[in-house]
Amino acid sequence: MTKTFNIASIPGDGIGPEVTAEGFKILQTIEKLDPSLRFQSKEFPWGCEFYSRHGKMMDDDGIEQLKPFDAIYLGAVGYPGVPDHISLWDLLLRIRKSFDQYVNIRPITLLDGVTSPLRSEYADIDMLVIRENSEGEYAGAGDRLFQGTKEEVALQTGVFSRKGTERIIRYAFEEARAAGKSVTSISKGNALNYSMVFWDEVFEEVSRDYPGITTYSYLVDAASMFFVTDPARFEVVVTSNLFGDILTDLGAGLTGGLGLAAGANVNPTKEYPSMFEPIHGSAPDIAGGQKANPLAAIWSVSQMLDFFGEEAWGKKVLQAIEKTLTDGDVLTPDMGGTATTAEAGSKVASCLESMM
Ligand code: NAI
Ligand code: MG
Repeated sequence: MTKTFNIASIPGDGIGPEVTAEGFKILQTIEKLDPSLRFQSKEFPWGCEFYSRHGKMMDDDGIEQLKPFDAIYLGAVGYPGVPDHISLWDLLLRIRKSFDQYVNIRPITLLDGVTSPLRSEYADIDMLVIRENSEGEYAGAGDRLFQGTKEEVALQTGVFSRKGTERIIRYAFEEARAAGKSVTSISKGNALNYSMVFWDEVFEEVSRDYPGITTYSYLVDAASMFFVTDPARFEVVVTSNLFGDILTDLGAGLTGGLGLAAGANVNPTKEYPSMFEPIHGSAPDIAGGQKANPLAAIWSVSQMLDFFGEEAWGKKVLQAIEKTLTDGDVLTPDMGGTATTAEAGSKVASCLESMM
C-alpha cells in the first residue's frame, strides 16, 4: 500500500529556496528507493518578495490554505527592506500560533566529521532540546506607555499557563521515556519569582508521573556554563521559549554552526500541520550564489520523516548527512569546502542511495 504525505512548501526568501530544493531532492530519492512512499508538495510563494508586491507576507486566507497539509516545509523568511518584526510575526509566528505548534524540537548533536570549538574531551554532545513554543516570554503581551517622554515605560510580560507549562514538560518526559533518557529542566526560579517558581513546581508535579526517569533541574545561567564545560550531562532538555531560543543557538555553535542546525515546530495532537525548518535565516549576504549549506534543511527533512512515523528513513537521512561530513569531499564553504548548495545536496542523496 502506498502512503502519501502532503507537504506545503514555503521556500521563502534569500537562501530559503536554494536549501529547500535540496530537501526535496532527498524526498525524491526516498520515493525512488521506497515505492511505498509518496511525497506530494505544493509551493506557496510567500515571504518578503511577496510582501513587496502585495503588502502582506502571505495570502489573507493563508492559514486556511495550509490547514489540509500533513506538514509545512519552510526555508527562511526575512530580507532587507522588510522590517524583521513584520516578516517574523506575519508569517512564521502566525503559522506557529494558528496551528498551536507548541513544541519546538531542536536536536543538538555533534555528528562525526564535524569539529566542535570545544576541546575533544568535552565534546560528547547529543541532546534533544524541547523548547516551549507558544507562550512564555514570547507571548507578545506588553505595552509601551508614555512613548517618547521621559516617563516612558516598556512592559513585556511572560505568560505561563498551567496548560502550556504542563503539556511541554509532559512532552519532554514522553520523549525521554521513549528514548530511555533523563530529563533536565532549565529555568530561573531564584530571580523570576512568579513564572519560574511556577515552572519548577509543575516540573516537580509532572515528574511524579514518570518515576523511572532521572530528572535534573538547573538555573539557566549555570546550565549555559555546563553546555560548554560538560555538555554530556544533558539528554532531553525542557525549557521556556526565551531560554530555549538562546540555549539552542549556543548548542548550534557547539555542533557545527547554523548550516547544520534544524528545528521542528510540532503540534503533537496532529489537529493542525507541523512545520519543519532549518533554524538559520535567509542569509542575504550569500543568497543566490549557491553558497548556502543545505544540511540543516535536509536535517529538517529527517525530522519530518520521524514525525510522519517513518523513523527508519529519518535515521537513514541523518546517517547520510553524517557520511557526507565524514567523507568531507563535497562540503559548502561554511564547512571549509568548495561545493555548491546543489552539489552538497546531491552528495547526501548519493550517500543515501549507497546505504541501501
Ligand atoms: P542568518 O541565519 O540568515 O545568517 C547569519 C550568518 O550565518 C550569515 O553570515 C549567513 O551567511 C550564515 N548562514 C546562515 N545560514 C547558512 C547556511 N545554510 N549556509 C551557510 N551559511 C549560513 O541570520 P541573520 O543574518 O541574522 O538574518 C538574516 C535575515 O533572516 C533577517 O531578515 C532575519 O530576520 C531572517 N531570519 C529568519 C529566520 C527564519 O525564517 N526562521 C530565522 C533567523 C533569521
Ligand atoms: Mg532563534
